[in-house]
Amino acid sequence: MKFHLEASLRLSADAKAAEAALSDFFGKAGPILQKGAPDGQGARVSSWKLAGSKIDLVIDSDRYVRAHDALLRLRRPLSELLGKQYRIGVRGMDITRFDIEVDSDRAIEHRIPYVQEIKFEGGKLKIALDVGPQGTLGQSEIENRIPDRIISLLEDKLQSYGGKTEHWELLWESAAREPKFNRDPTEEMQKAGWIKHGSSRGQWIYGPQATHVFRTFEKIVLEEIIGPLGYREMIFPKLDTWDVWKKSGHAQGVYPEIYFVCPPKTRDPAFWEEVMDYYKITHEVPLELVKEKIDLPIGGMCYAQCPTFWGFLQGTTLPSDELPIAVFDRSGTSHRYESGGIHGIERVDEFHRIEIVWLGTREQVIAEAEKLKACYKHIFEDILELTWRTAWVTPWFMAQEGKTGLSEMTGAGTVDYEAVLPYNGNWIEFQNLSVNGEKYPKGFTVKAQSGEALWSGCSGVGLERWASAFLSQKGLDPSNWPEEFRRRCGKMPRGIRIL
Ligand code: SER
Ligand code: ZN
Repeated sequence: MKFHLEASLRLSADAKAAEAALSDFFGKAGPILQKGAPDGQGARVSSWKLAGSKIDLVIDSDRYVRAHDALLRLRRPLSELLGKQYRIGVRGMDITRFDIEVDSDRAIEHRIPYVQEIKFEGGKLKIALDVGPQGTLGQSEIENRIPDRIISLLEDKLQSYGGKTEHWELLWESAAREPKFNRDPTEEMQKAGWIKHGSSRGQWIYGPQATHVFRTFEKIVLEEIIGPLGYREMIFPKLDTWDVWKKSGHAQGVYPEIYFVCPPKTRDPAFWEEVMDYYKITHEVPLELVKEKIDLPIGGMCYAQCPTFWGFLQGTTLPSDELPIAVFDRSGTSHRYESGGIHGIERVDEFHRIEIVWLGTREQVIAEAEKLKACYKHIFEDILELTWRTAWVTPWFMAQEGKTGLSEMTGAGTVDYEAVLPYNGNWIEFQNLSVNGEKYPKGFTVKAQSGEALWSGCSGVGLERWASAFLSQKGLDPSNWPEEFRRRCGKMPRGIRIL
């Protein structure tokens, strides 16, 4: 990695009188520019020139002391020198050229903020930052570490391409139980009148029988987990603003998968009259006109379920005896714009989930995760009697930011629960359980009274996924269901008859 920076320091007056002192300063600036770098590495001032009331500088560097950091390092000692002896102030700096070279095996084709041009030549990306006059890279962008963010972004892109992939590592596998069924449960439920397609993509209307199965799953979670482990119910908002997603990290990568939410530009009926009239006459909704009358999206519909919880604790300090905190939400749907591969109730755009969230010290959070795992094992082994397995996977909070690999925090990560679908032999992820490390308490500035780092965890129980796993292995006929499930399910409700 190489940096080439050309910049000028603006002075409050002509510094002719200080020329010899400046020459001496730059001659001895080595230690400032190499501090922290391995021997012989770091940055250097390749040239400098006093031009009346400005100093023009050229700085070249490697990755150890990046050229823009070198410039910031020089500012204070220079100010001291010029201020004390010559009563000249350093007013600011202007960047006139900033080029970066990064090793790469491929070109980057799309636009990146503050980047004027990226050329791919001889195994390197040659990046020219946009240092033009306005809205471009200047002093405040350097102080705000914009060049470093550009480099991290490029490194991320270069790594995730082909290199790192989604992590998947088997942790545990149940005995293979003889399936009681080998057909597609969505098709069978449709035939039996348990479910019908909703009007939206990947959306279903669940009739009384399917709903009863879902509610039985919920009852099991309540009786086996929520009750015994003392979780308290809350209601999390189901519209996530950008502000929430900036703090949760979703703002980094979730765009292709969210349902955006746009408010009307105004709720004045007169503003909308044209739309209403158009509909009344044509019986069509004039979408282009609607598009003009709605505002920019304020965020999107619930996607991950736990991020909005954190607004409740945002900016607070928690007393030690309040920890660990364990809560859950089952107050509404989640929405994902799924890929073309939406299939039955296994992959849907609108789904139902119990979200379990806990937080405390690292030890408390990891211990809680173990308790939950034991409860889940009991449910899947003894109540649902599934053929299932668990795997250590790329943490959901990274995957949803568009990242691969594993968490850097030891002890943090996601376990996926998967069940086999006998009708096609595929394994379906039917829930997850994660220790999210400090990510959420940090993102939403929640602190512990003790000063200890706060950790959190969450686990999503997807009812459509549980139904896919359970019904594909056991079928729709209650007489084939495991005894423990049948007992909790009780009598199935009547469906709605149609002619
Ligand atoms: N919030 C987690 C997820 O979205 C668990 O539901 O995967
Ligand atoms: Zn969560």
